[in-house]
Amino acid sequence: MSTATIGIEKRIVITAALFVLTLTGVIAMSVKVFGFGLPTCLTDVRPFRDGKVITQAPKRYEIHYLARMWRFEPADISIPPGSTADIYLSTADVTHGMQIVGTNINLMAVPGAVNYARVKFDQPGEYLVVCNEYCGIEHHQMAARIHVTDRAAAPPPLPVTAAAAPLGGQELLDKYACTACHSLDGSPMPGPTFKGLYGSKRTLADGTAAVADEAYLLESIEKPNAKTVKGFDPVMPETTIPPAEMRAIVQFIKTVK
Ligand code: CUA
Repeated sequence: MSTATIGIEKRIVITAALFVLTLTGVIAMSVKVFGFGLPTCLTDVRPFRDGKVITQAPKRYEIHYLARMWRFEPADISIPPGSTADIYLSTADVTHGMQIVGTNINLMAVPGAVNYARVKFDQPGEYLVVCNEYCGIEHHQMAARIHVTDRAAAPPPLPVTAAAAPLGGQELLDKYACTACHSLDGSPMPGPTFKGLYGSKRTLADGTAAVADEAYLLESIEKPNAKTVKGFDPVMPETTIPPAEMRAIVQFIKTVK
């Protein structure tokens, strides 16, 4: 091999090495300087059932977001500017999205899994958290807020939790994800609609009939497949909803006309 060929090879190797170094540098700079997120990933954290903020150190937080039809928990958080938050996202029912407007955070809340991303809030302001995955009739209402403000700097910020009032029938339908399969407005879904259900005559799969009175509704919640309405598949799982909540649900269903 001539010296000229070796010279060219050397130059190619050096050029390639420089190219790789430059790319690595650009990626590192994007992360450090411009705050681009590295790809997020599913964690092996077990899905959780309640949202909360954990203060790990000054300006270091762990936020557990629970997405559900149709809100995020916690709904309202205050943290000081310069805070770094480790965000864990779980869902209580169906698939939701979670985008923090003004940041690069855009996660999916997938049943059975927990998603993770880290975000730093340098600029004070109100950050809107929205669901960007269609999840039912009130998908567009599903939002939460993160207040990045110095006012919260003194005491450790805590999530604003709603008063522990008992949930109403409609909220319980959301809590137990009933509305994932039963509509309130008559639109077709995997299960019968609740619209006009109470007091109506039901034709059952076995050809018999039943009236949707209180006893029928309570039985249908507890043992859904005791009576299957004609035209529907017996796919609803049995529930273990506390009796008081079942009664609240039935009272609500009565009002859906
Ligand atoms: Cu949750 Cu859309």
